[in-house]
Amino acid sequence: MKVDGKHIRSIWLEPDGWTVSAIDQRLLPHDFVVARLTTCDAAADAIRSMLVRGAPLIGATAAYGMALARRADSSDAALDRAYQKLIATRPTAINLKWALDEMRRLLRPLPPPQRTAAAYARAGDIAEEDIAINQGIGRHGLALIEAIAASKKPGERVNVLTHCNAGWLATVDWGTATAPIYLAHERGHNIHVWVDETRPRNQGASLTAWELGHHGVPHTVIPDNTGGHLMQHGMVDLVITGTDRVTANGDVCNKIGTYLKALAAQDNGVPFYVALPSPTIDFSVDDGIAEIPIEQRGAEEVTDMTGRTADGRIETVRIVPAGSPVANYAFDVTPARLVTGLITERGVLKADRAALAAAFPERTADAAE
Ligand code: MRU
Repeated sequence: MKVDGKHIRSIWLEPDGWTVSAIDQRLLPHDFVVARLTTCDAAADAIRSMLVRGAPLIGATAAYGMALARRADSSDAALDRAYQKLIATRPTAINLKWALDEMRRLLRPLPPPQRTAAAYARAGDIAEEDIAINQGIGRHGLALIEAIAASKKPGERVNVLTHCNAGWLATVDWGTATAPIYLAHERGHNIHVWVDETRPRNQGASLTAWELGHHGVPHTVIPDNTGGHLMQHGMVDLVITGTDRVTANGDVCNKIGTYLKALAAQDNGVPFYVALPSPTIDFSVDDGIAEIPIEQRGAEEVTDMTGRTADGRIETVRIVPAGSPVANYAFDVTPARLVTGLITERGVLKADRAALAAAFPERTADAAE
């Protein structure tokens, strides 16, 4: 999507054919800096430190990480080491494992001299496929937005609430939750987005607001606790969130606080949709609450806040008393019963096993391997 009027992706291959570049998302919205990743270690650090983040982008970065590892050493042992290093970076988003499995399945049978070129080609394809998937999600989600727009007075705005950043920065381009929003905006619909700030890392306030702003989409940043109030007053037409992993029975794991939005949505009769690219489905898991590993992150994300001061400096300040214990669970699980529908590249599905398996039979076979 656009930054300062120019089209850019979150990750790309440089013209030298092997250096991987990515936007350093830790510095947004204050500074726009591109990081160059030239080793598998650098790709792993980028994922772990959240220089890149968001389930689909984590997968694409890991795929490029495997390609960078191949460049240094094409042996079987090096392939396994790179897989282990990358898989250990973050536990919850299943796209990481999906991408690494794709790369290993392709590379393992090839003679070592062919592996580097094949790895770069597949990593590039994974990035392109992500864009095509998100455009598919966009088209199916647009139909939902247009149906709501048609039920309103001509020109009356459609209000979407979203949580965290499931925008183009979380993917290679377009985003998942934002793809229908960008399409609706491009088609001239009067669309407005309520952007949850998404404590503790503030991906909504710092990333979603930044990308919507650069693309000219009307939006309002709200504290995380505001959504229920807005829904009670008819100020939210639909919720669209992203997801880091959806189980075979349709449970949705996403950024902490998503579950509370789903509860408020159900209580107020607001449709709660989840934008789901197929690599985010984990058919090997049934019960999301019991089985999905929930990342716990550093206490400093809760105790400290970083921002720009009036005189332009970036400063970090402490907001919690010294000595107070802190818990920082990064994700939660929204049970399938609270999900109105899953917006996938193959249509809007019921959040249940039959619908997911019918739409993505090839992925159920993967899980059985
Ligand atoms: O911890 P993050 O920033 O990687 O979490 C991102 C989210 O929770 C997104 O909503 C999710 O990955 C979907 S991204 C299309």
